[in-house]
Amino acid sequence: MIPPARPDIGQEEIDAVSAVLRSGMLAQGRRVAELEERWAAYCGAKHALALGNGTLALMAIFAGLGIGPADEVITVSFTFAATANAILSTGATPVFVDIEPDTYLIDAGRIEAAITSRTRAICPVSLYGLIPDMDAIEAIADRYGLPLVEDAAQAHGATYRGRRAGSFGHGAFSLYGTKNMTTGEGGFVTTDDDRLADWIRLYRNQGMRARYQFEMLGFNFRMTDIAAAIGLVQLAKLDRNTARRQAIAAAYDAGLADLPVRLPVTPAGRTHVYHQYTLDTGPARDAIARDLQEAGIGVGIYYPLGTHRQAYILERGIEADLPVTDAAASGCLSLPIYPGLTEAEQAQVLAAVRAAVERHGGLPAAEPAAARGVAR
Ligand SMILES: Cc1ncc(COP(=O)(O)O)c(C=O)c1O
Repeated sequence: MIPPARPDIGQEEIDAVSAVLRSGMLAQGRRVAELEERWAAYCGAKHALALGNGTLALMAIFAGLGIGPADEVITVSFTFAATANAILSTGATPVFVDIEPDTYLIDAGRIEAAITSRTRAICPVSLYGLIPDMDAIEAIADRYGLPLVEDAAQAHGATYRGRRAGSFGHGAFSLYGTKNMTTGEGGFVTTDDDRLADWIRLYRNQGMRARYQFEMLGFNFRMTDIAAAIGLVQLAKLDRNTARRQAIAAAYDAGLADLPVRLPVTPAGRTHVYHQYTLDTGPARDAIARDLQEAGIGVGIYYPLGTHRQAYILERGIEADLPVTDAAASGCLSLPIYPGLTEAEQAQVLAAVRAAVERHGGLPAAEPAAARGVAR
């Protein structure tokens, strides 16, 4: 079985963790500080703060921006539920905007219509490893004086006109086991805002600046030095591993170009870091995915149902009409992509996709724009 993802963990990470364990200093310490410094420099942000996971990173940003009940945050439904959940954790309401049919990213042209007197932030998601149309999004955020919260959980090292993910507004990253860079569980906030960085530093540490001097309400959102030791090794390997993902994506692009499926696109001026390599196969998606599983190919479906259709969202009276999201949720599937995927395994994936698409029929080439509503 070729799994959908496999972390690149080797002797260096094992040695780094052993060194921390032997030191006896396990909790947040100098390795966390070093990782924060390096991540801030890597992203081109003034501050990076390491936290327990990516959900906490989003929660800390929204809380630190003072977002709360009666507020709204504009985001997408076509993402992992943590994006909306972090907004809900403050008492605020996520307002879902539809996506572009070719990139699966927020359709910047629809943001302005979603802004109300209650809007407090815009939270685009760099899904699958590609940054959305930040020129347009930043222009809207500036015009309305709204902070930008970048859900960059899947986009370590992705660029947009030379700027890295995490350098637009306030960024949140995940370091979960399957991410392009991992600490097992972990997360970062990146920001240029001194006040927000200081606030989150306290918030993640029970509100303490000095021991037992509680300046504000806070919690334990900290990362351990054990995790940070893994992160330092992973960061040193990130560019090489991103290049591996990009090479696999290029091989998939070439191998699937003649099939009736929609391949990932990378608009000019951006680099895609391929956290996922996602195809739109159209209505036969589930049959194709079943065949691939049977052929030993670990496909992923991210995400089979938009957040706006989840019961707990509907129970809160949050409604949205998102035809492009619905089409993506029913047509998309992601192929195995990770640095250690061999050429022979890539060939196996390509042959299995070809056989499954030929058997069940993929999205007709002429269908996308008409059926999915939006042409670009
Ligand atoms: C888009 C997106 N946002 C947020 C998160 C939450 O990150 P974590 O799983 O580290 O809490 C994830 C990770 O799974 C994600 O993919």
